[in-house]
Amino acid sequence: MKRMLSGVKPSGRLTLGNYIGAIRHFVSYQEDYELFIFIANMHAITVQNDPQELKKNTRDLIALYMACGLDPEKTTLFLQSDLPQHTELGWILTCHSYMGELQRMTQYKDKCAKQETGITAGLFTYPALMAADILMYDADYVPVGVDQKQHVELARNLAERFNHRYGDTFIVPEPVVAEVGAKIMSLQNPTKKMSKSENNPKGTIDLLDEPSVARKKIMSAITDSLGIIQYDPENQPGLANLLTILSSLTNESIDSIVKRYQGKGYGDLKKEVGQAVYDFLSELQVKYQAIIASGKIDEIIQNGNEKAGKIAYKKVAKVKRKLGLSIQKR
Ligand code: TYM
Repeated sequence: MKRMLSGVKPSGRLTLGNYIGAIRHFVSYQEDYELFIFIANMHAITVQNDPQELKKNTRDLIALYMACGLDPEKTTLFLQSDLPQHTELGWILTCHSYMGELQRMTQYKDKCAKQETGITAGLFTYPALMAADILMYDADYVPVGVDQKQHVELARNLAERFNHRYGDTFIVPEPVVAEVGAKIMSLQNPTKKMSKSENNPKGTIDLLDEPSVARKKIMSAITDSLGIIQYDPENQPGLANLLTILSSLTNESIDSIVKRYQGKGYGDLKKEVGQAVYDFLSELQVKYQAIIASGKIDEIIQNGNEKAGKIAYKKVAKVKRKLGLSIQKR
């Protein structure tokens, strides 16, 4: 069975973009792959966080992973900060990354463009830590949204570089990016990605938003004045985004939705998308509440940590031998 790995950073509340671009795919892969899904909380501290909030967001993320359908019997769910090997291998890979390649990461460039002060060194080197997360487990595939693809490509380069210098050590992973929904856009600014860190709450749907509030956000989503329902992300990005959200939540193809809406207006479409989001969140939140109430989160993470930890321990020991960092004779 091929191995797959991915993670989400608990740096804020999870969005519908995280679900559509990433988590729903994880769920669909758990039957056919050996799946490792983790909470990337060491990545969350690249920006300043309130400790209590980080803790809450972390527990919420675990509960939401399960509410979305990840089954801890099938998928190894673990917490990055509990396994020190991630930062150990992260440092090793930082020492194998070039300034130039990290400077080329568009996410870093975008963040620098937005936030002029207070950019941490961690924000700059975090793709090397992400490469460590992936290479640690010999993942064959890494399902991500479009915005993370470049980081997975860096992980490939680092794996190849390391293997070339020290002999076969890492599997060279492949990013898996879905055809539909790999970049859900802000509802208020549909040329920008829907993001946990967006300032305007009307642009983002949080998975823990009150369903009726989320419906209102869909109703006030920015569209255009053309008035024709067709899928044209270039010229009608807001409309294309709504069609993508509906298609992802209902599994009806975009083509089929567009056909149904011939001669109808944006208002009707928004109503249907709003209802689909409302139904999806209502069902998800019932499951989320039950998981939080079950008190099982700690045990699930402990089990996952144990399983992932064994692999991580062996991999880092091997890497240290290769690098000459372990001096014992074997
Ligand atoms: P993060 O937490 O920003 O996002 C988690 C996943 O959600 C996807 N995503 C989206 N997809 C579609 N539309 C959107 N608007 C949208 N916003 C986010 C992301 O592409 C991602 O797949 N560095 C990573 C976490 C990470 C990781 C890893 C992922 C750390 N180590 C190893 C994979 C493998 C991050 O910050 O993702």
